[in-house]
Amino acid sequence: MTAGQLHPPQRHVLVGVSGGIAIYKAVEFVRLLTKEGYGPTVVTTAAAKRFVMPLTFAAVARAGVLDDEASWQPSGGWFEHIEAARRADVMVVAPATANTVAKLAHGLADNLLSAIYLAFRGPVIVAPSANWAMYEHEATQRNLEILAGRGVDVLPTGIGDLACGEEGAGRMASPEVIMAAVRRAFAGLAKGALAGRKIVVTAGGTREAIDAVRYIGNRSSGKMGRAVADEAYLRGADVVLITTRSGDETAYRKVVVESAAEMADAVARESADAGVLVMAAAVADYRPQEVSEGKLERAAAPELTLRLVPTVDILGQTRRAGLVRVGFAAEAGPRIDRARAKKAAKGVDILVFNDILAAGIGIGSDENEITILTPAREAHVPRTSKTACARALLDEVETVLTGG
Ligand code: CTP
Repeated sequence: MTAGQLHPPQRHVLVGVSGGIAIYKAVEFVRLLTKEGYGPTVVTTAAAKRFVMPLTFAAVARAGVLDDEASWQPSGGWFEHIEAARRADVMVVAPATANTVAKLAHGLADNLLSAIYLAFRGPVIVAPSANWAMYEHEATQRNLEILAGRGVDVLPTGIGDLACGEEGAGRMASPEVIMAAVRRAFAGLAKGALAGRKIVVTAGGTREAIDAVRYIGNRSSGKMGRAVADEAYLRGADVVLITTRSGDETAYRKVVVESAAEMADAVARESADAGVLVMAAAVADYRPQEVSEGKLERAAAPELTLRLVPTVDILGQTRRAGLVRVGFAAEAGPRIDRARAKKAAKGVDILVFNDILAAGIGIGSDENEITILTPAREAHVPRTSKTACARALLDEVETVLTGG
């Protein structure tokens, strides 16, 4: 047992690092793996060693670092690439440079990292990192498609300032996002009912345009939907988050929309091949009938009357066999009776009721208190984090999926 560890790690993650400037984030990622007991083994390429001394990784992993020289040493009866592949449960390549992505996609085995990839049979996570032009090059994109098509979890890159001084796509996912992918890979190995199933989650409040600048909106923070999407991701689901909140980085696919009509289109498109739809978004019930071009001028109208017309009922129009539908009912007061009626009217499998007037919970808060109305029962979840609420909800979704 390594000093400072209470228990020897039960789980082993093999981290391949190739030579990109995002390697500094890989150091933090390996530190997090060690802290959470994932027993990381780091494999570096020759180029990676030009950026960071192996000793840095050895210190945060609390274990020796493997490199190309190690691949020529027999260890424990097996050569190192076979031995390392056998030991690991999950393999992560971060940063995965365009060069390493190409090697993995085409099965080259000219260094220890790429040889281990070929010898490894478990889940593989790749966190690409490149200058935007190299990342967007057709060759790199095709190679990433090859990997994704093979079942590799290719993490999205961020858009923003790059180390090369330019701006664009290709920024490696954060250590936290890569950690979430690791947890998800282990959950996938455990195989719950959501693993491998597509789930569409909506979040945030829609904005209904009045003119080019103004809109009618609501106070929804999108936190509940985000918590459900995060938890579903950790359970190995194929998650699509349809949200009105553009900012946050996610490890899964995100579709940013604004209005109820845009959300309806996205939900129809994405839920066509999904197994679960969770409508946590606060969808506007009405929108202005007319949207003024440009900006309404105050001086031109001493008074303003807006005519509002109903929006589409998104939940209502997604009813189909094989799709488990979850609705939310945020009621002003302890009106579980209204929630029960809504569950019947909308024909949903599960309805989540909460009282937005209860102190300290609901809209904007990090906490919630909910009652989950399922086909079998009504489960009350006393005030707790939205993450814990999401877990309770997904437990019920899994029960419905398994016919319980
Ligand atoms: N919803 C929807 N499309 C709409 C309005 C709401 O899909 N145009 C969904 C919400 O995302 C939520 C559920 O329907 O999951 C219930 O929303 P809510 O606003 O509580 O229900 P309404 O039927 O609009 O009833 P009311 O506003 O009168 O309470």
